Amino acid sequence: MNLKIAILAGDGIGPEIMKQGVAVLDAIAEKFNHKFEYKEAICGAHAIDAVGDPYPDSTHQVCMEADAVLFAAVGDLRFDNDPTARIRPETGLLAMRKKLGLYANVRPVATFDCLLHKSPLKEDLLRGADFVVIRELTGGMYFGEKHQDNDMAFDTNIYTRPEIERILKVAFEMAQKRRKHLTVVDKANVLASSRLWRQIAKEMESQYPDVTTDYMFIDNASMRVLTEPRFFDVIVTENTFGDILTDETSCITGSMGLQPSSSLGEHTPLFEPVHGSWPQAAGKNIANPLAQILSAAMLLEHFGLEKEGRLIRDAVDASLEANVRTPEIQVEGGAHYGTKEVGEWIVDYIRKV
Ligand code: IPM
Ligand code: MN
Repeated sequence: MNLKIAILAGDGIGPEIMKQGVAVLDAIAEKFNHKFEYKEAICGAHAIDAVGDPYPDSTHQVCMEADAVLFAAVGDLRFDNDPTARIRPETGLLAMRKKLGLYANVRPVATFDCLLHKSPLKEDLLRGADFVVIRELTGGMYFGEKHQDNDMAFDTNIYTRPEIERILKVAFEMAQKRRKHLTVVDKANVLASSRLWRQIAKEMESQYPDVTTDYMFIDNASMRVLTEPRFFDVIVTENTFGDILTDETSCITGSMGLQPSSSLGEHTPLFEPVHGSWPQAAGKNIANPLAQILSAAMLLEHFGLEKEGRLIRDAVDASLEANVRTPEIQVEGGAHYGTKEVGEWIVDYIRKV
């Protein structure tokens, strides 16, 4: 298969983990006779410095012309410490989501048996937990009308029927492909926007008779994902709730550095780690490249390259089993492996099997 892949490495640890992600894709291309053509483009703080725009038109063009985008992370301490800055790396991220129409953010939550002890939760409660959070990504409070003056501020949580229908369709279909259990997470006891979500989900239920659908308030869901993670199969929720819930669910996996995601929608699909740019670690060769590498696996699986995705996942499992791990998940007394060494081990594994 020929794939044109836009490479947006961004800021902080982005370039380091991206290098490993691309190396893994290259190893797969060689082994399975695919041709992956990469085109790099700037974004984030990086792009603000270069052209004054965190998601410049030139980058958008590269994304639009590609079959897929592999994204790493954006963000920089200079902006984190200045909440008044008008142009910020994150505004570029939101512009990118909006312009590419990436309304469905898919964040899988899975455990690795050998890392269960890394989670702050009890091991026997986590074992076997395996679910997906589908977060609406281009609507709600993030994009609704806003106002701020000295005495008053508001954000509008607006959702239209077509926006809700299309994300629920993704969620129902995902549930059909998995264990056929969908949980719609909302705050329908208080919010009008949530009541519309719930109404539309109930209307759509009859189109998916094989799926068991239940409804949960976000406050309750944020407790249940921690106390009963195995209950869930597919969760669908609005932008803001999904943002909060997926940071929470990342502690199920044991490290933010292990969580990949995909964002799908109207134009080019995008694949990125859930973690951020971790500027403090940039250049230190300590960041975990696995979320980036697993995002590359999700990219391949999106195009039906199941065997290829499987091989990457097997390689990642094998690296963890072999204790080839970055410091935050290394066992006590385990050898030191950096971003680069973990990536290289995985590339070697792919070449050899
Ligand atoms: C995420 C991030 C972003 C979000 C930030 C960086 C704007 O937290 O992708 O979850 O809130 O969506
Ligand atoms: Mn977030």
